Amino acid sequence: MSTISVIGCGYLGAVHAAAMASLGHRVFGVDVDERKIAALSEARAPFFEPGLEELLASAQSDDGTPARLTFTTDIADAAEATVHFVCVGTPQRRGEFAADLTYVDAAVESLLPVLKAGDLVVGKSTVPVGTAERLAEIIRPTGAELAWNPEFLREGHAVDDTITPDRLVYGVPGGEAGEQATAALDEVYRTTLDAGTPRLVADYATAELVKTAANSFLATKISFINAMAELCEASGADVTLLADAIGMDDRIGRKFLNAGLGFGGGCLPKDIRAFMARAGELGADQAVAFLREIDSINMRRRVRMVDLAREVVNGSFIGKNITVLGAAFKPDSDDVRDSPALGVAGLINLQGGTVTVTDPEATDNARRLFPDLGYEADLETALRGADAVLLLTEWKQYRELHPEEVGELVRGRAIVDGRNVLDPAEWRAAGWTYRALGRP
Ligand code: UDX
Repeated sequence: MSTISVIGCGYLGAVHAAAMASLGHRVFGVDVDERKIAALSEARAPFFEPGLEELLASAQSDDGTPARLTFTTDIADAAEATVHFVCVGTPQRRGEFAADLTYVDAAVESLLPVLKAGDLVVGKSTVPVGTAERLAEIIRPTGAELAWNPEFLREGHAVDDTITPDRLVYGVPGGEAGEQATAALDEVYRTTLDAGTPRLVADYATAELVKTAANSFLATKISFINAMAELCEASGADVTLLADAIGMDDRIGRKFLNAGLGFGGGCLPKDIRAFMARAGELGADQAVAFLREIDSINMRRRVRMVDLAREVVNGSFIGKNITVLGAAFKPDSDDVRDSPALGVAGLINLQGGTVTVTDPEATDNARRLFPDLGYEADLETALRGADAVLLLTEWKQYRELHPEEVGELVRGRAIVDGRNVLDPAEWRAAGWTYRALGRP
């Protein structure tokens, strides 16, 4: 059993802290945000993530055993720990491609007074290659060491992805320090390793690049199929069948080949941009110049979606009710950061449409970001009187909508399927105009 501190209790940190406690470790979760700490202390997740609240509750339960999980705003509490995870965000810098490392630097700075000889600081945040080397120099005078252990969790699956990841990657320094860091991390991840999870030990730079490369590949895969969708639109072909067919080649694989409105969220868009910025600093910008195109293909899908929506309401949004199904950047999340759905909703609003956005979890977050749009939590009410329905985030309840039932509520039977999840034949048979991205 290890005693662990987790600095930063956002998406990554809160899940990591709860997951590590569930594996039997003593965990201190530290954040400067008092509201977040208060919520987590009461086993309330500050964001929607299936399974997290149960984990928080069981690790903090008053069942006679000492608490395994404590949330605090006082970094001094981290002094008890010997392994310190840095889990703060690295957003895109305003007006630039590069990542903003302010929070990572501040987290390391705040840890310095509590670090003891033999402690291990473990970076989990997604950072530009070279960051770990720089931070290790700052940490070393305390007698502590640094490891980089990138996180690959997907929102909506964060708990499982943390406890049973596909792989563990440790970026460690050379020599004995590296062996000690590896041993300390092996102790933290004992249960996961015993379950057969592969672990790869690398240098700092490789570990940092693994994360950036993985997200760049995923973004590329999505934009590849969306580029094929553009060709399908130009030629009358069907991208969903195309994806099924090429995906059957197991060298290609069907996962992450869902054509549609493209990727958003707090990771893929900013990570590919930060990668381009860092590659430029390293004089290797040509190597990832293709990511600029990946980004453009992705952003073009949003504009195309607006065009399709305008077509189905006969060329103008003025005086039209447009119901947008989905505000979150993907289903099973309340995260609206760079949400393609909200981007489309915002554009239609600017072009004079009366937009009503509905989402099972994300309307509160969406309203804070785009206060001008109309919001309706109840799906049926949101659909009532619509001239066009746009399915932009593929929540289960939207995938299962019944064309006849929805038809009774709307003013005009027109639907644009931004995620290619509905059966066109079924909707057309019920008298709907059905349009989709990359499908005839
Ligand atoms: C991603 C990575 O998957 C994860 O490993 C990393 O740690 C963080 O970034 P996440 O942002 O939670 O995770 O979402 P993900 O499931 O990867 O989806 C990203 C976006 O791509 C979503 O907007 C989703 O709708 C879109 N997407 C995904 C597609 O458009 N098509 C697909 O086939 C798959």
